[in-house]
Amino acid sequence: MVRWGIIGLGRIADSEIAPAISASPQGVLHGVVSRDQGRADAFAQRHGAERALASFDDLLTDPAVDAVYIATPNALHADQVVAAARAGKQVLCDKPLALSVADARRAIAACEEAGVKLGITFQTRFHDNFSRFRELIQDGSLGEIRVVQVEMSSGRTLLKGWRTDPALAGLGTINNIGVHAFDLIRYLLGTEVTEVTALTGHEEGLAPETLALVLLRYGTDVLAYVNVNQSVAYPQADITVYGTKGRVVGRSCTRMNMSGTLAIVSEAGETTLETASYDAYKSAVMAFEQAITAGREPSPSGLDGLRSVELTTAIAESLSEGRTMAVTASLR
Ligand SMILES: NC(=O)c1ccc[n+]([C@@H]2O[C@H](COP(=O)([O-])OP(=O)(O)OC[C@H]3O[C@@H](n4cnc5c(N)ncnc54)[C@H](OP(=O)(O)O)[C@@H]3O)[C@@H](O)[C@H]2O)c1
Repeated sequence: MVRWGIIGLGRIADSEIAPAISASPQGVLHGVVSRDQGRADAFAQRHGAERALASFDDLLTDPAVDAVYIATPNALHADQVVAAARAGKQVLCDKPLALSVADARRAIAACEEAGVKLGITFQTRFHDNFSRFRELIQDGSLGEIRVVQVEMSSGRTLLKGWRTDPALAGLGTINNIGVHAFDLIRYLLGTEVTEVTALTGHEEGLAPETLALVLLRYGTDVLAYVNVNQSVAYPQADITVYGTKGRVVGRSCTRMNMSGTLAIVSEAGETTLETASYDAYKSAVMAFEQAITAGREPSPSGLDGLRSVELTTAIAESLSEGRTMAVTASLR
């Protein structure tokens, strides 16, 4: 059994992760922390948590808590991971792990020193479609992979609250949604990104970007194009991986909890499969619980979180310098 604490009682904790913990056969929500006692009380009551707290320290000193889920604004993640690790708690941190490579590395080091696991909620990996994508890529059915094209968008849902403040959010839609696309491509290809260049679009009155077109190179041979945005209505949620022998297309599946279809197009023609609907967040919570009870490295791991921060740092540099940047993977 994994007894959870949550800090950051906003939308994702309320609508996805607390219900996912309750639905998991291995999970129990034990304590929740808000800056406001009334919000903690209401949240605890809604989700059946035993303790409602207004202090993170009180959660961390509670021996009944095995694991902490962090869902606060992005800038707070790294310090909260470090504090949770030092208190001996397993840590599932929502993306992004940090706003700088140094902070991401610090968070990983604290978890390693404390001997606790660090997972990141890149839950898109858990879609059934993507295990099939990986098989097709790895078994050579598509030939040599050359291009990946992804569109990921929440529709016209402009940034608000702390997400409009670069000090708390870092980047805009890139940290909000884009990091899922980058993690997904890396997961599918099993290769690190080596180069990146990006252009962004902005809405009047909003500092962070709401639209980004990002070109990436994975390894030496694979190019990727990512359209991530919160600007347009009725976006597509499609991904295509093109190889020298054919392509695989996932339609209506790049956003959370979509079922969608998968089509394989090759010399043999086109085969389309319906794919099962899934609960992305429940899959992510359960995978983390299984990793900590089995004592193995979670997937996605803290290292996956660091890789993402290395990439978003290079994207920010590309935007400020107006050129293509090399991306270097640190720590292995
Ligand atoms: N994996 C995913 O698909 C996914 C989806 C959405 C969000 N996320 C990530 O989850 C985190 C939370 O996102 P969210 O959409 O749940 O945000 P949200 O609704 O704004 O909730 C964030 C919560 O953090 C707490 N908080 C602590 N310090 C704060 C501050 N200075 N300003 C504002 N809130 C503060 C607040 O809870 P109290 O007032 O109760 O303390 C707030 O409700 C973000 O890092 C985001 O990137 C991930």
